[in-house]
Amino acid sequence: MHKIAVVGTGYVGLVTGTCLADFGMDTVCVDINEEKINNLKKGQVPIYEPGLTEMVIRNVQYRRLQFTTDMAEAVNNADVIFIAVGTPPQEDGSADMRYVMAVAEQIATYMNGYKLVINKSTVPVGTGQKVKNVIAQKLKELGKDMEFDVVSNPEFLREGTAIYDFTHPDKVVIGAETEKAKEIMKDVYRVLYLNETPFIYTNIESAEMIKYANNAFLALKISFINEVANLCEKVGASVQQVANAIGKDGRIGSKFLHPGPGYGGSCFPKDTQALAHIGRENGSPMQLVEATIRVNDNQKIKMVQKIEEAMVELQGKKLAVLGLTFKPKTDDMRDAPSLTIIKELAKKGVTLNVYDPIGMHEAKTSLANVESINYCMDEYEAIQDCDGIIIVTEWHQFRNLDLERLKSSMKSPFFFDLRNIYDKQRMNQLGFNYFGVGV
Ligand code: UDX
Repeated sequence: MHKIAVVGTGYVGLVTGTCLADFGMDTVCVDINEEKINNLKKGQVPIYEPGLTEMVIRNVQYRRLQFTTDMAEAVNNADVIFIAVGTPPQEDGSADMRYVMAVAEQIATYMNGYKLVINKSTVPVGTGQKVKNVIAQKLKELGKDMEFDVVSNPEFLREGTAIYDFTHPDKVVIGAETEKAKEIMKDVYRVLYLNETPFIYTNIESAEMIKYANNAFLALKISFINEVANLCEKVGASVQQVANAIGKDGRIGSKFLHPGPGYGGSCFPKDTQALAHIGRENGSPMQLVEATIRVNDNQKIKMVQKIEEAMVELQGKKLAVLGLTFKPKTDDMRDAPSLTIIKELAKKGVTLNVYDPIGMHEAKTSLANVESINYCMDEYEAIQDCDGIIIVTEWHQFRNLDLERLKSSMKSPFFFDLRNIYDKQRMNQLGFNYFGVGV
């Protein structure tokens, strides 16, 4: 059986390593952060992802999953090595490849026989070849004559449902150059292969491009429906009816047509920026992607304008913000639309009572420089004596708010539902001054 090493215990690496162990593979996760590794050994998972802690503990118990900081040992013992380290965005939108390349060099340094090196991190097109060159160069330097293959195997995991997505993917994309590499990948993902998941084999560059094109297209769908929603408001149309109808066209599909305050998270903002950068660098500008990014930036500002237009004067007002993370079921605040909305409102003299079911800790860090924020214990504390409510993230518990209690606790009944989780007509009947997005 193949032995697997996953380098990098961030979101992608940890989910990948744990799920592969759960598939029965002998897996070791490697990270340079000793504290993180020690905690993981004890079953303490540094990220919030439903089901992950239990899965880590179970697989550690069965000794299918191990954690180490010892890269040499991990590379020595494994014949399949995933690179899942970070590729943080740089000033110009391009991804920082330093960590990926450093890992490639280390792999070459510790190699003791054939290795299949798999790129799991989202990387600019051409990185696979660069990884190949780095390994080959280092092997040459060290006078080692060893065989290896490099594969690009992008992930499509959503935060909050990462385990389900890993175990029930729509597709497994494998960018490989040799039959041997393809066969090993089939073995690694045997469980999925046997479940008739489509396996798509491409060259390395196409696999790298698939990841970007996939995410950029989804981001484009969101920006498109957000623009349609904004126009609907002006012309008296309902974006919900429009999205529902266009989604019935099989060529469009019903998913990712929910308007809102703009997309956030660790993937869409970063990947659209990176793809736009790759386009510019190669003299083939991605105009739709550039527009998608602009529309998304603007959407957050539009939400603030919507609030200002409705309330006329914002100075001295107190608003409750319900939901801070970029989407429900995660504690991730990266590029969350709430950040822009809160900062802009604070600039306009608004006091903000904020609450999120899981993301409070992260939110405090992300909003550390903003004054006039009160961090509340729950949604009802947040709405006490406020002049309006803004639902930014559609956590389930906000779908069933006690509306009577809300109304009696608020100073004025402004209700900005940036996720369209309430019915406008009903809310108006109940006496709220209700505003959705595109309704
Ligand atoms: C995404 C991709 O779905 C995943 O395949 C990729 O690997 C990583 O990026 P994730 O960032 O976890 O996953 O979240 P996702 O559920 O896709 O939502 C992304 C953002 O788009 C959120 O801010 C969400 O609120 C927003 N969104 C999504 C909308 O505004 N409208 C929609 O219709 C769908």
